[in-house]
Amino acid sequence: MAENRTGQRLTVGLPDGRGYPIVLGSGLLGTAGLLDPFVGAQVLLVSNAAVAERYLDAVRASLGTDRADVVLIGDGERFKTLDTYATILDALIAKRHSRATSVVALGGGVVGDVAGFAAATYQRGVGLVQIPTTLLAQVDSSVGGKTAVNHATGKNLIGAFYQPRAVIADVDVLTTLPEREYRAGLAEVVKYGVIADAGFFAWLERSMEALLRREPDALIRAVRRSCEIKAEVVAEDEREQGRRAILNFGHTFGHAIEAQTGYTTYLHGEAVAIGMAMAARLSADLGRIREADADRLQLLLRRAGLPTEADGIEAVATLATMGMDKKAVDGRIRLVLCDRIGGVSVTADTPDEKIAKAIADGAT
Ligand SMILES: NC(=O)c1ccc[n+]([C@@H]2O[C@H](COP(=O)([O-])OP(=O)(O)OC[C@H]3O[C@@H](n4cnc5c(N)ncnc54)[C@H](O)[C@@H]3O)[C@@H](O)[C@H]2O)c1
Repeated sequence: MAENRTGQRLTVGLPDGRGYPIVLGSGLLGTAGLLDPFVGAQVLLVSNAAVAERYLDAVRASLGTDRADVVLIGDGERFKTLDTYATILDALIAKRHSRATSVVALGGGVVGDVAGFAAATYQRGVGLVQIPTTLLAQVDSSVGGKTAVNHATGKNLIGAFYQPRAVIADVDVLTTLPEREYRAGLAEVVKYGVIADAGFFAWLERSMEALLRREPDALIRAVRRSCEIKAEVVAEDEREQGRRAILNFGHTFGHAIEAQTGYTTYLHGEAVAIGMAMAARLSADLGRIREADADRLQLLLRRAGLPTEADGIEAVATLATMGMDKKAVDGRIRLVLCDRIGGVSVTADTPDEKIAKAIADGAT
């Protein structure tokens, strides 16, 4: 089905006038005036060199004026730090940005998270616009208002809930994304099908080849449905006191796998793919879903070019890491398990032996 490519709008509905649009399409960046409804008189564009060389000029053109200052930060997770955050604040102060300024984050989740935290705290909060340029950022990190930097002792330990004024997602930027980064983003797309929409999951099964070719219509549909699901969950539970936890499907296993492999073997989305396969196998072992459904998820992940088994992890150590996860409750591991393809529940009563077995079965 042909998609409207020139700018579809979704809304993240939040109370107190804090709701915001997600503008989604193909060929959006560079459109004169695109950003103007969402920014004030001053703008600080935050990006990194790799993204800026490709897309900064188009974003400047979308601003319609010359008024933007620019700060480029280092590329990669190791720059998601307080030092980088301070660099952004220094730029805001040096260029005398007032409370009316807007921070525009152009990049993947790293740029979005650190620029978002700077926007949340500069003069107690200024405008923020997210222009996500990775698939993961378009379907996940740019929507929902979590901003953060890492601390030497752990990821995302310092941050704030802070919602943007708008998210602008142009799927054309995804054509320059390295293949491995792109496929890692597909893991999060598959996640939305599993947690909330069996029809979307079936569409992903039909459309995986088109998605791997990065066809704009398929991408628009995948990003739109992912954002709709995320927006709906966030609107219901902005600060993760309940339902928002379903977005962590595969993540408790995934985070432990990342930690156990020193954050170097797997990209986040790859670890989440392995984690989702483990969570599905565990769900089948507990009799919550049929083996055939766990197999269906595993097959789709493999077709997306994602790993479904982990190399170099040990079940007991991984289980211990999961117990230390900041989302564990009273030492009990909170897990999101499948009730079916398209529905999950948060649980805290899975016996450790069963979790360990799922890890061992998913380790090579
Ligand atoms: N805030 C949230 O709710 C949330 C949710 C999920 C993940 N995250 C965070 O997101 C981060 C990961 O984000 P990511 O996967 O986008 O990684 P990333 O920001 O490091 O980007 C991945 C790589 O792709 C490059 N890149 C970005 N856009 C490109 C493009 N269009 N063309 C070519 N190269 C491009 C980047 O320079 C980088 O090297 C992590 O820090 C994670 O904690 C946050």
